Amino acid sequence: MPANGNDPIRLVLNGERVDVSGVSPQATLLSWLRETRQLPGTKEGCAEGDCGACTVVVAESRGDGTLAWKPVNACIRLIPSLDGKAVFTVESLRTRPARSIRCSRRSSSATGRSAASARPASR
Ligand code: FES
Repeated sequence: MPANGNDPIRLVLNGERVDVSGVSPQATLLSWLRETRQLPGTKEGCAEGDCGACTVVVAESRGDGTLAWKPVNACIRLIPSLDGKAVFTVESLRTRPARSIRCSRRSSSATGRSAASARPASR
């Protein structure tokens, strides 16, 4: 959390650093994403943390140089609690070039079934 109420909340949203100020301490991540950031991909369902329609991914430092990635219900997560963290919404998925993911389909001769896999394309 910011040191005091006057300090901006600093977070990364879909890979872009954002300083947030002037928001209510009770503002939810969901309302901020949809109303202020114009990111409608995160949906509101129950607004009580039960349905998962508002799920985003939050990354935060574990303190050992690695990141912990967690699914978070944006409808019950307050903006000030995101200081120093990274938030990824569904909109971040479309910014990745399609060619960076390579899909393949292979068949298993033993079962006759096919399986799909996705992996980053090599350069
Ligand atoms: S809207 Fe249902 S969990 Fe957030």
